Amino acid sequence: MNHFPHPPSPSLLSLAVTYVAEHPILRENALNLAKKLQLNMVEPAEKQKNDLLLIYTEAGLQLQLSGNTKGTLHVDFSSGAMTYRRLHGGGIKQPLAKAVGIKPGKRPFILDATAGLGSDAFLLATLGCRVCMVERSPLLAALLQDGMQRAAADRELQEIMAHRLTLLQGDARILIEGLTERPDTIYMDPMYPHRRKAALNRQEMRIIRSIVGTDEDADELLRTALRHADKRVVVKRPKGAPQIADRAPTHVISMKNSRYDVYMV
Ligand SMILES: C[S@@+](CC[C@H](N)C(=O)[O-])C[C@H]1O[C@@H](n2cnc3c(N)ncnc32)[C@H](O)[C@@H]1O
Repeated sequence: MNHFPHPPSPSLLSLAVTYVAEHPILRENALNLAKKLQLNMVEPAEKQKNDLLLIYTEAGLQLQLSGNTKGTLHVDFSSGAMTYRRLHGGGIKQPLAKAVGIKPGKRPFILDATAGLGSDAFLLATLGCRVCMVERSPLLAALLQDGMQRAAADRELQEIMAHRLTLLQGDARILIEGLTERPDTIYMDPMYPHRRKAALNRQEMRIIRSIVGTDEDADELLRTALRHADKRVVVKRPKGAPQIADRAPTHVISMKNSRYDVYMV
C-alpha cells in the first residue's frame, strides 16, 4: 500500500491511481501517472480498497476521496463557473487584479506561490498577466497539469495556455530562490488552519485541506517572497485572520469574507 507522500496527511490515507472501466484506453495514462508519482496502480474493480484515488475519466483526471471526506477534485478551466468568472468577474477592477498591481496598460509578471487548483492564477492569466504557478502537492500538481492540457485544446483558452500560464511542482520557498526571472508580484493564498464556517462550507477547500493539511510555514514563505519580488507580495487572508508573520502590510484590500494584504517592496 502506498501512502500520501507530502506533507504528512492527518490520518495517512491510502492512495492509488486508476481509470474508469468503461474507457480502458485510459489505462495507459493511469500507468504513466502511477509511475511518475510512484504510486500503486489498481484496476477499476479493486479501487474501493483505497481512501484516495486519482482516476482518469473521460472528463480528465479526478481526485476522489471516500470515507468521511467524500468528494471529488478536478481542474476544469473551461467550466461554467470559471467562464463566468473570466467574462463577468469585474475584469481589471476586481479586488484580486488591483491587489496584484494590474492597471490599464500594466500587466505584472506574477508568481503564484500557492497554486492549489489554479483558479486565481488562471484568472490573472485571463486578464493578460504571465503567471507561473507553484504547487508543492504532487497530487494537486497532477490535477493542474491535466487541467492545463485540456484547456490547451479549448480554442478560447489556447492563447492563454500557450503563452501565459506555467506550472512548477515543488516547494515555493525553495523554487523562488532559483528563479531566472524576478517576478513583479508574488501572490500567496496559504491554507488557513482556523476552521471558519464559511471555509467549511466550501467542499473543495475541505478536501484540499484533508490532502495538504495546513500551511504552517506560510511565515517563512512570506519572508522568502519579500526578498524575491520586484514590486509587491500579496497575501490572501480570511476576514479577521491575523497578518502572516505578524507583519503589517503596506495596504489592505477588504472583501466580504476575506482580504488581500499587500506588501510593497
Ligand atoms: C488555499 S490553496 C490555494 C488556492 C488557490 N489560490 C486557488 O485559486 O485554487 C493553498 C495551496 O498552496 C499550496 N502551498 C502552500 N505552501 C506552499 C509552498 N511553500 N510551496 C508550494 N505550494 C504551497 C498548498 O499545497 C495548497 O495546495
